[in-house]
Amino acid sequence: MARLTFRQAREEDHAPIVAAIRTWWGGTRTPDEARELSLLLPRLFLQHFAATSLILEGADAPAGAGSRAAGGGPAGPGHESGGAAGAAPGGVGAVGAAVDGGATGVAAGVAGNLPPARSGGGHPGGARPAGPAADGALWVDESAAAGLHAAGGLRTADAGDRPGRPLAGFLIGFHSPDRPGTAYIHFVGVHPGLRQHGIARALYGRFFARATSARRPEVRAIVSPANKPSIAFHHAMGFVPDGGDYESDGVPVHRDYDGPGHDRISFRRLLSGAPAVAG
Ligand SMILES: CC(C)(COP(=O)(O)OP(=O)(O)OC[C@H]1O[C@@H](n2cnc3c(N)ncnc32)[C@H](O)[C@@H]1OP(=O)(O)O)[C@@H](O)C(=O)NCCC(=O)NCCS
Repeated sequence: MARLTFRQAREEDHAPIVAAIRTWWGGTRTPDEARELSLLLPRLFLQHFAATSLILEGADAPAGAGSRAAGGGPAGPGHESGGAAGAAPGGVGAVGAAVDGGATGVAAGVAGNLPPARSGGGHPGGARPAGPAADGALWVDESAAAGLHAAGGLRTADAGDRPGRPLAGFLIGFHSPDRPGTAYIHFVGVHPGLRQHGIARALYGRFFARATSARRPEVRAIVSPANKPSIAFHHAMGFVPDGGDYESDGVPVHRDYDGPGHDRISFRRLLSGAPAVAG
């Protein structure tokens, strides 16, 4: 089993996250569309909303994996020996339990407000948490870790005392300055080889916990009607569409929400157990 760890985002994560948007969104966007989408994440998000944004990263390259590439660029040649063989997207093992309370400083005591953590029994391969229950980590089997270390994989930026690590997922979100009870998720992305194993659920869970502890009972997210996986994911996470002008595949859509031709679904979820917000 290999360990993935959560941490708060930093400004230096901007480049690898932009690179991730340009490549990880390939299932629902053309390369030009993905590039255009990445412009919706200017550096300011990592300068002003890093405290509420999350990174999930792998461990350093396994022994013999060779050198690393920093700052989100493609891994260097020496990196190719890091277990790329057999690491085809989708050929990933299961992810263990998501736990909370670690890297993001989420307050203890709100864990009961989280969406249910993934249990090992629900995953292909029956992965189990392999570490202490409250270490803020996810566990994936070795084939998943190999995928993260594959050539061309993205790495987080070097940070002071340690080198960058493989980028497994990220969440960019913030607590609305204008709406005291609302938290907003702007982007979430998971490495293509690690999807549908509970990683985005775990990222949302940590964001929800922090929103709850900050007395933000409402979480919002905007999704393009073309992004069917994201729509399915948000439904699975308990979000409901908030209004709309017409329906697309049964989901209400706001016409021209983000400008002419940019229709959007406005998703909203209320967090149970969040303290009421005065005023
Ligand atoms: C959308 C995305 C973030 C989901 O990440 P993920 O780690 O695969 O999601 P999870 O495994 O945590 O899934 C959580 C729930 O959503 C559901 N779900 C996730 N992806 C789904 C899909 N493609 N189709 C149907 N349901 C899906 C899961 O079945 C799961 O439901 P369950 O717990 O009831 O079984 C991921 O597909 C991704 O990174 N896509 C590209 C980027 C993107 O479009 N981001 C969203 C817009 S900003």
